[in-house]
Amino acid sequence: MITQDIQEILLSEDQIAERCRELAAQIQADYLARGSIPVVVGLLKGSVPFMAELMKRFTMPVEVAFMKVSSYQGTKSVGDVRIDMDMDLSTVDRDVLLVEDIVDTGRTLKAVKQMFRNKGAQGVQVVALLDKPDRRVVDIEADYVGFEVPNEFVVGFGLDYNQRYRNLPYIGILKPEVYEQGE
Ligand code: XMP
Ligand code: MG
Repeated sequence: MITQDIQEILLSEDQIAERCRELAAQIQADYLARGSIPVVVGLLKGSVPFMAELMKRFTMPVEVAFMKVSSYQGTKSVGDVRIDMDMDLSTVDRDVLLVEDIVDTGRTLKAVKQMFRNKGAQGVQVVALLDKPDRRVVDIEADYVGFEVPNEFVVGFGLDYNQRYRNLPYIGILKPEVYEQGE
């Protein structure tokens, strides 16, 4: 079973749920104070459990969409982003709340934010469940962060290693022998 591959549980189901309640309350209060209702956009696949936990706490009439992107380092100074699956809602003149699993180097976030601006969004804000600040290579921060995590490979609650472990209900540190074997 996949639980045997986890070295340590970093964030329990209860801790995550509680933090999502706090984040949702804060985010909703901030949007309502600005008189805005966002389009909430989850980046597949890692954001799915986080999106589920957050969106059920909103009582404002948000619209929800998903898209899948992959980022890559092009010849430009920041990462470029390729759309693997586009969303089904327009974000022109709308405030977008991007929902991400983790901000690592920051390349994905920077590229996706720029893409939404280019497509005519009014504003783009970001909520990330996890932040690994030690790994940042581009100057960008999420507007809302669930938890800061150390520079370890974490899986679960949407996060994967080779597409596995996304279904774990908590966030754990993967045993190094698991990815050393896979190399
Ligand atoms: P950036 O562009 O910020 O990319 O480097 C963020 C993406 O990298 C993946 N990522 C991880 N996935 N455990 C994971 O399962 C990790 O510890 C980890 N660190 C980065 C993830 O797909 C995220 O969206
Ligand atoms: Mg991701």
